[in-house]
Amino acid sequence: MKQTKIFLNEKDIPRQWYNIAADMPNQPPPPLNPGTLQPITPDDLSPLFPMPLILQEVSQDRYIDIPEPVLEALTLWRPSPLIRAHRLEKALNTPAKIYFKYEGVSPTGSHKPNTAVAQAYYNHIEGVKRLTTETGAGQWGSSLAFAAGMFGIDVKVYMVRVSFDQKPYRKAMIQSFGAEIVSSPSMDTQTGRKIREKMPDTPGSLGIAISEAVEDAAGREDTNYSLGSVLNHVLLHQTIIGQEAKKQLEIVGESADVIIGCVGGGSNFAGLAFPFVRDKINGADIDFLAIEPASCPTLTKGAHRYDFGDTAQLTPLSYMHTLGHGFVPPAIHAGGLRYHGDAPLLSQLVKDELIRAEAYSQLDVFQSAILFAKHEGIIPAPETSHAVHAAVTQAIQAREEGKEKTILFNFSGHGYFDMSAYTNYLEGGLIDHVMTDEEIQESLKKLEGLPLSFNG
Ligand SMILES: Cc1ncc(COP(=O)(O)O)c(C=O)c1O
Repeated sequence: MKQTKIFLNEKDIPRQWYNIAADMPNQPPPPLNPGTLQPITPDDLSPLFPMPLILQEVSQDRYIDIPEPVLEALTLWRPSPLIRAHRLEKALNTPAKIYFKYEGVSPTGSHKPNTAVAQAYYNHIEGVKRLTTETGAGQWGSSLAFAAGMFGIDVKVYMVRVSFDQKPYRKAMIQSFGAEIVSSPSMDTQTGRKIREKMPDTPGSLGIAISEAVEDAAGREDTNYSLGSVLNHVLLHQTIIGQEAKKQLEIVGESADVIIGCVGGGSNFAGLAFPFVRDKINGADIDFLAIEPASCPTLTKGAHRYDFGDTAQLTPLSYMHTLGHGFVPPAIHAGGLRYHGDAPLLSQLVKDELIRAEAYSQLDVFQSAILFAKHEGIIPAPETSHAVHAAVTQAIQAREEGKEKTILFNFSGHGYFDMSAYTNYLEGGLIDHVMTDEEIQESLKKLEGLPLSFNG
């Protein structure tokens, strides 16, 4: 019988996170304090983050130990299985082998708890009693609600309005884990009130929700802020995925030729890819594909420069691919991919051509998601479906070229709370939104006046 699932034992969970900063040929320019235009200092960040996370943010150590209480929490669902998509391969009549790392086995159904437990733990040991955060799809909000609950921390989630309306059961899940949740833009912050006055019908965006969560945390002594993607420490915590996948491929004597992940802020892509990018830096021949929606094409069409991480300009300036902090993406179903920027580490690796980026439209993505669901029995989250579509496209290309290759993709989350998106697709109600160059140039105009580089 053919092997389908490759499991590791709990004792094989990696004991350290892998930090790509130690191996990158070029470091991203440092984040800047927007007031002084100098690199941010730990003091700038300490009102929002606990010191161990600030130190991870700037660390150049290749490996960082995972604390025991975090490992214990991770054993609730890790190691996650690596699955060979035999039936999808057969349906596509492809010579390619398709493997996916199934992160949907976590308590909230995605990769997000991998960093949520670490962030909650470090806040807990510094005595923090309350955290605020944003959420797009609801995956991150529910993950932080779950993880913070384990360490006795209260959470308030600002959920992007379009997702808040589309996903009532994510809301119920967040509340079940004991967190408070509000639709963003909300009436609870100055930022939210201002935006609602100016744009009463806005679907909201991750940039706006981040502003609200940061404003809330900055205004309260007992509260820190927590981010579900983009920052170096978040990408670091996700590298447990790629390290496990490496061991699993070794068990079946395989090595990946193509590695794929979808990109919102970049954390699940980085989590799977970065341990393998190290191999590429050391000479391995691997094609890395970062997949984004054509309606929010940061890596493929954005500018690589300094920008704010949020709409209200409360965060430091990060050097990243961006469509401009005022960009409000169309209300596509992949809410977790509606972010105007990207992780600076990922942006730099794309700039240095170690990673390629591609953008796909919503209808193509849902078509592949349905194909995958029919043959593999798991309904992917709309975000994950972008990676699924890339894997299907690669497998078809392999068939056309008559080439054997091994494809590995990150199955970042299941879509069982996203069934309204599937209903919409199946009833023919979905439309494609492709951003035009003119719309993007218009949005980038708002960045005039921000620094283009940092020369020390
Ligand atoms: C299932 C799933 N995949 C991917 C993403 C995108 O985030 P990131 O790029 O940080 O992995 C999200 C974000 O909410 C998500 O919920």
